[in-house]
Amino acid sequence: MDIRPEPFEPPAPIPRTVPPSRLDIIKVMFRNPLELWGAPSYSLPYIQVKFFGRLTTIANHPGLIRHVLVDNAANYAMQPIRQLVLRPILRDGLLTAEGQVWKRSRKAMAQVFTPRHARGFAGKMFRISEGFAERYDAAARTGEPVNIAVGMTELTYEILADTLFSGEIATGTEGFADRVDSLLHNMGRIDPLDLLQAPAWIPRITRIPGKRALSAFRKIVSDTMDARRARMTTEPEGVPDDFLTLLLRLEGPEGLTRDEIEDNILTFIGAGHETTARALAWTLYCVSESPHFRLLMEEEIDHVMAEGRDPVDWLEAMPHVRAAFEEALRLYPPAPLDQPGAHPRRPVDG
Ligand code: HEM
Repeated sequence: MDIRPEPFEPPAPIPRTVPPSRLDIIKVMFRNPLELWGAPSYSLPYIQVKFFGRLTTIANHPGLIRHVLVDNAANYAMQPIRQLVLRPILRDGLLTAEGQVWKRSRKAMAQVFTPRHARGFAGKMFRISEGFAERYDAAARTGEPVNIAVGMTELTYEILADTLFSGEIATGTEGFADRVDSLLHNMGRIDPLDLLQAPAWIPRITRIPGKRALSAFRKIVSDTMDARRARMTTEPEGVPDDFLTLLLRLEGPEGLTRDEIEDNILTFIGAGHETTARALAWTLYCVSESPHFRLLMEEEIDHVMAEGRDPVDWLEAMPHVRAAFEEALRLYPPAPLDQPGAHPRRPVDG
């Protein structure tokens, strides 16, 4: 007899049956972009909608997505609204670069994202997570409820600061987390004027505080780079083997310019912090509602840890843990839209 409890049905927005009005789009976009999807988005290979006066085609089928992003990428450019929001912040970082700049940077960056480097980072990530889990456990024992969304933001921030800079930040680590927070919360958001396609010269009030945060932040990143660069010259043997060192080593005609390195550091912070925190928080939420599956995961974790394997191999050795993470990503994608526009690409630069 199967004694498992009823499977947990994760909450999901009810697909729309009528297209959203312009006002709905503005309201929903800020709260939860997934609520914009109508029933056809879940069943048709692609849909065509009028999005603020512009005919927009959204590819849903994996084959069509491959057609746009991989097989015919040269025919498509990034959606203007996406670039309008993100490019002023991330400039020529990988997420917002296009054409030859993207191609050269992507190739150079492949030297950083190698399995050997991932191996080095996995150990660091594990140590930080272990320390975090102990503190979290102690906090939970006080009986106060814990907020996993906040907790995972703190954890991923700690991992980011350590894997990126080894904690060697020009202004010290004090207050850096708040600066990252302020940057992410004030910038990178779509302003209602963007949706209405107002000309770029009309100031977006929602971004004014973010602009100040951005220039202060860029200055810290730039000073941090200079300090590390100096250390790489004076004590090349002693520099930490983190993302910052790896990126600075890429500087050169075949690699990245100094500004591109700065842009990519900002990109890693912007693209790698909130996404990972959200993915982990949703995974833990789903697992907390599925005690049977949680038991399977715990047994799996105990077993693999007892074997003393290298943390970098854990994901392969823990199919249930991996499945939970992937299912949470599918149900609650932290970056739910990928947005190249269906326009002829701008002539590639360089
Ligand atoms: C669960 C966590 C993550 C999710 C869900 C996620 C999601 C995505 C998505 C959907 C894109 C494509 C975006 C677009 O083109 O519009 C993307 C690109 C990118 N992500 Fe992530 N990401 C995650 C973690 C990270 C981390 C940890 C980093 C860096 C340390 C990172 C760095 C980047 C970069 C650099 C790109 C641009 C790649 C390129 O265009 O060549 N992401 N990510």
